[in-house]
Amino acid sequence: MSAANERPKKVTTHVLSEMKMKGEKISMLTAYDYSLANIVDQAGIDVVLVGDSASNVMAGWETTLPITLDQMIYHGASVVRGVKTALVVVDMPFGSYQGNSREALQSAIRIMKETAADAVKLEGGVEIIESVKRILSAGIPVMGHLGLTPQSIHKFGTYTVRARQEEEAKKLVEDAHLLEETGCFGVVLEKIPAKLAGKVASGLKIPVIGIGAGNQVDGQVLVLHDMLGINQAFSPRFLRRYHNLFAEISGAVGSYIEDVKSGDFPNEREQY
Ligand code: KIV
Repeated sequence: MSAANERPKKVTTHVLSEMKMKGEKISMLTAYDYSLANIVDQAGIDVVLVGDSASNVMAGWETTLPITLDQMIYHGASVVRGVKTALVVVDMPFGSYQGNSREALQSAIRIMKETAADAVKLEGGVEIIESVKRILSAGIPVMGHLGLTPQSIHKFGTYTVRARQEEEAKKLVEDAHLLEETGCFGVVLEKIPAKLAGKVASGLKIPVIGIGAGNQVDGQVLVLHDMLGINQAFSPRFLRRYHNLFAEISGAVGSYIEDVKSGDFPNEREQY
């Protein structure tokens, strides 16, 4: 939120909708633990996403598929304890909502009850709409996620830009409208052409948050560990690195090792 727009006590889905109406951009970052969530929240972020990218970033898996509902709940509850103001959205993991809307509702209820988060996020459009409807029917706010949907990586085969072809672009626009009509409060568009993302954002009333989707959308999301430069291996064009924490942390650890080995640490003031 800009200085001109005072930060509310708590960011709600209603606040996000007002931000879109006022043309105020929405900032969103991932977090998976209490300490970093606390920093990100105090820095003034609007939305904290407990992404299933925790599967890659926290657990070192190649894809987002292995992370379980229990693990997402653990990360979600840790983040919620660190956040006072931002809206906290928890990703529903692969296998917890596809194909069976009753199971989807049970998974969403567990997330809401056991993490105290504000909302859940699901990947997909028409294929998962029954799950979205059922979750919404319980009063649980839902965020959609279209474009590159990493839980479907084995169907796509690659992490390249999605919806370049007319047919896929048309389906994406239809899915985005369907998610809005069904009652989602927002939608993430991942790695699609900027022009298409802009068209979706201007055609929807709900906020559209982009990642690799250009600047004609209502807000941006990045994976915290990527934008801080903790993760060095991941370097897509859309990623702006705001720091090189890998170098900072490894420098600090190197100094600590040196001090321990040389006997310099602890010194007299650092002992009892
Ligand atoms: O899991 C995640 O971090 C996400 C973002 C990339 C949007 O879904």
